[in-house]
Parts: sequence; structure tokens; C-alpha cells
Amino acid sequence: MNMMINPERAAELDAQAAQIMQANDRGGFTVPTARLYPYQWNWDSAFAARGFAQIDKDRAWQELETLLEAQWPNGMVPHIIFRRDDPDYFPGPRIWQSGTTPPSSGYSQPPVAATVTRDLFEAGPDETAMPRARALFPKLLAWHRWFHEQRDPDGQGVIAIAHPWESGRDNSPDWDEAMSRVDTSKVEPYERRDTDQIHAEMRPTKADYDRYIAVIQFGRDCGWDSMEIARNGPFFVADPGLTFVLLRADRDLLALADALGERAAVGEIEGWIARAEAGAGSLWNPEAGAYCARDLRNGLASDGVSSVSFLSLYAGLKAPAQETANIASLTRVLAACRFAVPSFDPEHPKFDSLRYWRGPAWCVVNELIGRGLAERGYGDLAGRVRGDTGALIEQAGFYEYFCPLTGRGAGGGDFTWTAATWLAWASPKHFAASA
Ligand code: GLC
Repeated sequence: MNMMINPERAAELDAQAAQIMQANDRGGFTVPTARLYPYQWNWDSAFAARGFAQIDKDRAWQELETLLEAQWPNGMVPHIIFRRDDPDYFPGPRIWQSGTTPPSSGYSQPPVAATVTRDLFEAGPDETAMPRARALFPKLLAWHRWFHEQRDPDGQGVIAIAHPWESGRDNSPDWDEAMSRVDTSKVEPYERRDTDQIHAEMRPTKADYDRYIAVIQFGRDCGWDSMEIARNGPFFVADPGLTFVLLRADRDLLALADALGERAAVGEIEGWIARAEAGAGSLWNPEAGAYCARDLRNGLASDGVSSVSFLSLYAGLKAPAQETANIASLTRVLAACRFAVPSFDPEHPKFDSLRYWRGPAWCVVNELIGRGLAERGYGDLAGRVRGDTGALIEQAGFYEYFCPLTGRGAGGGDFTWTAATWLAWASPKHFAASA
């Protein structure tokens, strides 16, 4: 547990985390880790900004600014920004053909940035925070509007993803049913690069990859027309993770609108929040005791407990009966493993302790879950999640993700978002402040 990390060791880890952030800095933006992910990633940058806020506020703002520089004319903020071509990564800019400057992928990722903008704004009400938040505000507003209009075209109050990568949880079992129906017969030949660097058992499989590419080809072939993708794309699945992260980000955007005097935006944001509060409950799956993904093409819900179900608290969703059952599921899941929070239920047959989003614990998701738990008064659970996060990093290092059974670090090393989460939240230096 984090409590047992002595002050010298904690200070050493604080310094190491800061060094990792600096080493992954490519001048105004960070890469998630050298080689494996050589570009700027969307929610990684938002978490990086939270980490930078602990060491260099100016650099923290800059990370958000460079991310939003890549915004598309339709409001979308892409999940990968290709500032220069790098042969180590597949699929690179030639596959996506975004037609934008800088080139980028054609999907988005969970919009954590408005929440981080609010954090930065409130932490530093100085002469720079106000104009910088003001400059980011219309971009964040346009991005959130894109999600509400293009990823919830029927106004159901749940946000869909058009590719598993848009969820940030690439190979979660949540997408298995919908992905199994994706036709891969027209996939053009390609060569993966990730398995040159990381053992294949820790990465998505070849069949997964073929489907990822088939979905991208559809988007590219329709010129990345969001409405065509929503109506006819091969994959369109409502994601509790995205729905909850966006609901939380909308609340933070609303607080920013108030603070910045952006009155014209208030009604629109309030409308989004009301719609999500009314609709998000439709993702509740009573058999699973969790909020589950739902394939919007055939109405089928996934059947397992993913860690994003526990983000309902972070989203500020008030649904007492579901909350009690969701907390019971969290308690059961945590009892079944040594380290919080497994990305997928360790008691489900699809659990795979080392394969990416099918079991491993991810520090950034822990941070969001822990924050929601603390805000809603679940101090013991919040303490467990934060303590385990610190212990994982202290014992294994700043890995991309961790085995929730043994604590073994996996995937890439010296990872930006793990370092950032340490600096912003898991380091014992924060313990005096809150749970
Ligand atoms: C993987 C993760 C995604 C993350 C990216 C860069 O694709 O699934 O969530 O943003 O790596 O770290």
C-alpha cells in the first residue's frame, strides 16, 4: 500500500516521474512512450497535462493547446496526431488519409481535456490561466458538440464509439460481439509494428487487428463523414466509459462557462447534461450488475463488468439502486484480485490478466475511478484504489499497465500517463490533502 512508501522512496519516484515526462516531451507535446507510441495521443495528453501541472504549469497548458490545435473543422479532436511520419508505428498517416494539417487519425478518444482545463484554471487563477482557458473553451465546446451530435445522433443520452480505439480500451471484451460481425474480406495487406516491440501475448490478436483495419477503411473510404459512419459504419457501440467521461467533462465545461462568462453556451451544455442523466441509465445491465456497452446496430448488451462501469460516480450520475449494485460489483471485483482496478471482471471467463484491456489495471482509469469514489464519499474504496496504484508503480515501475493479480508491469515502460498519474494523484505527497 502507498501508505508504506517511505518519504525518501516517494521523493525518488516523484523525481523519476518528472524525468519520464520530460524525456517523453517532444516540444510542446508528449508521446505516451518512446517507440511503441511515437505520436501525440488524445487522452494521454490530457493526463500528461495533469502531471505537468505539478512541475510546470505553463507546460501543462501547452499540452492541451497542442492537442486542440489538431481539431478538425467538424469539431472532432483526433485520437492520434501525426506530427511527423514514424516507421515504428502502424497504422500511420498514409492509412488514415485524414486530409488535415497536422495529419491525424479519424476517430476521437475519451474527452478528459475539459476536466483538466478546469483543474488547471482553478489551480492557477493567475493572469495566464484566464486567457488560456478562454482560448480553449470554444474548441472544447465544439468537440463536445461533435460527440453529442455525431456519436449520439438519435439523442439517446448515450455516446457511441465508431471504432474500439475511440473508447481508449482497444481490445476490451465489451466490443467482442460487435467486432465479430465486422467483415475483414477487403482488408488490404499490412504489417504490424507493435509485436516487434512487445510480446504478442500482451497485445491484441491478429484477428482483432484485421477488424480494426477494416473499420478504418470504411471511415477513410467515406471521407470521414461522421454521419455516414454513425448510420452505416461497420461498428457503432454505446460505451459507458465515453458516456461517463463526457458527462463529467460537460459538467466541468459548464463550470468553466460560468467562470469565464460564456453565457451563450450554458443552455446548450445544460441540455447535454440533462440528456445524459436521463439516458445513461439505459446502459445498466441488471444481470451483470454494471453499466455495460450496447451494440447500437442490434441492441445487444455486453455481459461483463468493465472497470468503466465504476465511472458512474465520477460522472456524478445519481441513481441510488444502481449505485448500490455497482459498488457491490466493485467490492466483489476488488476482492478477487490483489491490485485495483482490473479492466475486466477477474471472475468472468474472458478475463485475461496480461492482455491489455481484457484484465490489466491501468493507472489513469484508477485515477478517474478513485476521484469519483472520493467525491461520492466512498473513502475506503477510494483509498484502496489510490493505494494500490501507488504500490503498483512503486513495485514494478512506470509501466503502461499492470497485472492485477501479481502486480507485474506490462506493455511499454517509462510511460507518460503512468508518470503523470503518479505526480498528480498517486504520490504520497497528496495523501494529506484528501483520500
Ligand atoms: C493504447 C491504449 C489507449 C492509449 C494509447 C496510447 O492504444 O489503448 O487508451 O491512448 O495506447 O497510450
